[in-house]
Amino acid sequence: MENSRAQWSSKLGFILAAAGSAIGLGNIWKFPGRAFEGGGGTFVLIYLLMVIFFGVPLMLTELSVGRASQANVVGAFHKLGHRNYSWVGWVGVVGAFVITCYYSHVGGWVLRYVVGYAFEAPEIYADPLGYFYAMLGYGAQGATFFPWIAVLFAAVFMLLNAVVIIRGVEDGIERFNKIGMPALFIILVILLVRAVTLPGAEDGLRYLVSFDWSKLSFQTVLSALGQAFYSLSIGMAILITYGSYLPRSENLVKNTVLICTMDTLVAVIAGFIIIPAVFATLGPDQVGKGGGFAFVSLAGVFEQMPGGRLFAVLFYLLLLFAALTSCISLIESIVAFLTEHFNWERKRTTIWLSLVMFLIGCLYTCSQAAYPLKGIWFDAVKGVSFPAFCDAMEFLTDRLMIPACALGVCIFVGWVWKPESAVAEIEQNGVRFGLKKVYEILIKYIAPLAILTILILSLATGTTLS
Ligand code: TRP
Repeated sequence: MENSRAQWSSKLGFILAAAGSAIGLGNIWKFPGRAFEGGGGTFVLIYLLMVIFFGVPLMLTELSVGRASQANVVGAFHKLGHRNYSWVGWVGVVGAFVITCYYSHVGGWVLRYVVGYAFEAPEIYADPLGYFYAMLGYGAQGATFFPWIAVLFAAVFMLLNAVVIIRGVEDGIERFNKIGMPALFIILVILLVRAVTLPGAEDGLRYLVSFDWSKLSFQTVLSALGQAFYSLSIGMAILITYGSYLPRSENLVKNTVLICTMDTLVAVIAGFIIIPAVFATLGPDQVGKGGGFAFVSLAGVFEQMPGGRLFAVLFYLLLLFAALTSCISLIESIVAFLTEHFNWERKRTTIWLSLVMFLIGCLYTCSQAAYPLKGIWFDAVKGVSFPAFCDAMEFLTDRLMIPACALGVCIFVGWVWKPESAVAEIEQNGVRFGLKKVYEILIKYIAPLAILTILILSLATGTTLS
């Protein structure tokens, strides 16, 4: 596919693929947890600002770099400007690799919950938190054991991904998306109505709409920035590959705005479901880890709605597909790069890559509860610290690699390839880009300076990692 530079078969095909890549676990599993940690409304507001001012222009930029260069993530920088910038592509590919290691495991958890609600819903209802921890190898009275349930389901999830990629049935998946994505959206709206009308949900709602200056720190801003990029699949140079498949007649601006809007809508709705549900069913301080929100807190919602079990199975099934489409596009882009760059054979590359990522992911899952595996982190306040391996992994990608890659894209396009070239590429379809002046200033000065400042200050003022 890479060599012949395939093209999207239709406009809808591209939108679905890009939206399918963007909408995933980041929206429903990560966003609510981050919003909760980041002070609710404070975080949501900053997040929206990040999407509008940095997310949209960067997505537009990555797509135009891809379409102009007709090359892969590393090759694009080489081709359009200078090989000194191919590190940007490398950071992107390695970032995608690290993300997929744990993404595939969380995808496995989703599968676990599809099966769980189908066959043992009463057990989940009886002790939502206990059920979640048991999956992660954490028993009663603090006993820990190997998280074989989580690992087993993650293996199945990874296998699904590999099979789809090797057999090349992405078409089928995309066609499924056509129904699956709207269906996911409808279910989310139904859950939203149920969650916000639960007794006790008001506190959660208030938390989500109130702005608290004291919660505003560089940490929060960096977390929102990283989350916005993560959720939009930016900062991994993957959209470069996507853009390279786009015909010149396509309106990049319209597509970008559409994808960003859909992705953000899903994330915000998920936040407005899960956080009120946490307040209503668990109490705000019962779940220490944001990561468990999408799994633990929803039990109370499903339990208190007619046909809850059916909704639960459907919800996790659709989330599973959303996760699958994201994960496939992550793996696909790494495979595409490896096969093109090193001339490796596609099938073997996929198998080995999946296996290695799955194994590294096991360390992520084990460090959630069962084993005290540590990672390493550095900031100016605490110096070198050793946070849980799983936290360190997410920090590495969300707060370092993704912003760094995005920064590289800004500097490259702003100063080497030049914003005018990007604008020319954007205008290839014959429609004038009305906001080009704003775009040029953003990409050249504001975005790189802002990203760099946020990165440095947050490392200098210390992280919240324990
Ligand atoms: N955006 C995806 C999500 O929200 C995850 C993701 C991050 C991703 N970077 C990506 C997916 C790059 C595909 C390509 O779940």
